[in-house]
Amino acid sequence: TVLVVDFGAQYAQLIARRVREARVYSEIVPSTMPVAEMLAKNPAAIILSGGPSSVYEEGAPGLDREIFEAGVPVFGMCYGFQLMARSLGGTVDNTGAREYGRTDLRVSKSSSTLFEGTPAEQHVWMSHGDACSAAPEGFSVTASTDVVPVAAFENDDKKLYGVQYHPEVMHSTHGQQVLEHFLYRGAGLKPDWTTGNVIDEQVAAIREQVGDKRAICGLSGGVDSAVAAALVQKAIGSQLTCVYVDHGLMRKGETEQVEKDFVAATGVQLKVVDAEERFLKALAGVSDPEQKRKIIGREFIRVFEQAQLEILQEEGPEVAFLVQGTLYPDIVESGGGTGTANIKSHHNVGGLPDDIEFELVEPLRQLFKDEVRMVGQELGLPEEIVQRQPFPGPGLGIRIVGEVNKERLDLLRDADAIAREELTAAGLDRDIWQCPVVLLADVRSVGVQGDGRTYGHPIVLRPVSSEDAMTADWSRLPYDVLARISTRITNEVRDVNRVVLDVTSKPPGTIEWE
Ligand code: XMP
Repeated sequence: TVLVVDFGAQYAQLIARRVREARVYSEIVPSTMPVAEMLAKNPAAIILSGGPSSVYEEGAPGLDREIFEAGVPVFGMCYGFQLMARSLGGTVDNTGAREYGRTDLRVSKSSSTLFEGTPAEQHVWMSHGDACSAAPEGFSVTASTDVVPVAAFENDDKKLYGVQYHPEVMHSTHGQQVLEHFLYRGAGLKPDWTTGNVIDEQVAAIREQVGDKRAICGLSGGVDSAVAAALVQKAIGSQLTCVYVDHGLMRKGETEQVEKDFVAATGVQLKVVDAEERFLKALAGVSDPEQKRKIIGREFIRVFEQAQLEILQEEGPEVAFLVQGTLYPDIVESGGGTGTANIKSHHNVGGLPDDIEFELVEPLRQLFKDEVRMVGQELGLPEEIVQRQPFPGPGLGIRIVGEVNKERLDLLRDADAIAREELTAAGLDRDIWQCPVVLLADVRSVGVQGDGRTYGHPIVLRPVSSEDAMTADWSRLPYDVLARISTRITNEVRDVNRVVLDVTSKPPGTIEWE
């Protein structure tokens, strides 16, 4: 394992990803973790990330110098580089000379572990105020810029390396190569971490954790729960039961994908609860979006827990585990943490125990989203599930502005299927983050179709591009694709006489309409 020590800001996750792209397994640890604890993890190498602080600031995160003396190869980047320089007796000046953004780096040594085979001049991404003016003793300076005399150094005997810039960002043209040189040449690691290893490791870990007990997994139709379930299925087979609640708010074909394709690909034991009627009844007459979400959430938990209880009462070993598709970014963002959290599942069914305690099985907790997709692919899951774009839990229930009923859902399902079909046919699936299709059920406008007046509903297309759904921009889709979608929807979907395009970014708009 390569440990990436996180000094704040957003860089550590990106570094961890880049290390994995180099096919070496990496994990992030907070800089507040005692060095002894880091070393106890037996890391093959350590990377010190950048961070927002100045090494001169009051309370700036530090690091015990023991880390440089343990014989573990260390690579410092930006803030990590400055910390390394200071700890080992180099000079870091609070010059005030800032360097920010794209900078020209001059490699000054022809024989360098990090820069071997890279050009003498290269673009790098800088972001710092302080600058290193003298490298620690025993280090050779391998690069500089117009502003910084010591922009990179290395000590091959001690396996210590550092660069002032951010090799992990795309704008550093040879960044990945430099990082790989550290991993392969500096630390002597081999690029042998693959999704195949992940599967083998996780299968062994799940078997160990679950033993001969049973586990339950809720499937939502999304990528994460599907891949988590497939991994656990591979590990414990019939000891796993999956539950899929069909709330009647899914898009066309999605329930079938889970019921047929997913089961066919994994052989998983699946309990499908057809709860459409129950959900529609609970939603009848409700048009307030918050109320809709609450109702859907409440009904979902009730139905899911009823299904759990039925499984608990079946013949067989104790059901002690709940599988969840938690990803690495969720873990890092909620402050790290290891081990197995217990969650309590409260239910509302009379005459049964007050709460059931499950231990969580989270086989994806070390993985990034694209790695989850790769694992899913390797496990043989259908492309439609592995490459699926995000879809909200409350489903089409929050894509109908106005009251939700079966007729409106069917209409929206048809329009949505056309939009998805055309976007896929145009090869645009990877270019857009997601494209909600919304029915303005409470709006009617006059149109003309086949010589007759119509009084129908508008459909809104909301294609967006985004990195993480926190912010988004509307996607500039080709006009001819938009035209095809519009023509087909107005021709093929009854009661729809207009198709409109949402050209609002987020903020101020949200991605969904409710
Ligand atoms: P908004 O509309 O808030 O959506 O910009 C951001 C992202 O979250 C998804 N979304 C949801 N996902 N339950 C979910 O599981 C929800 O209630 C929900 N509401 C929005 C939305 O599709 C987008 O990806």
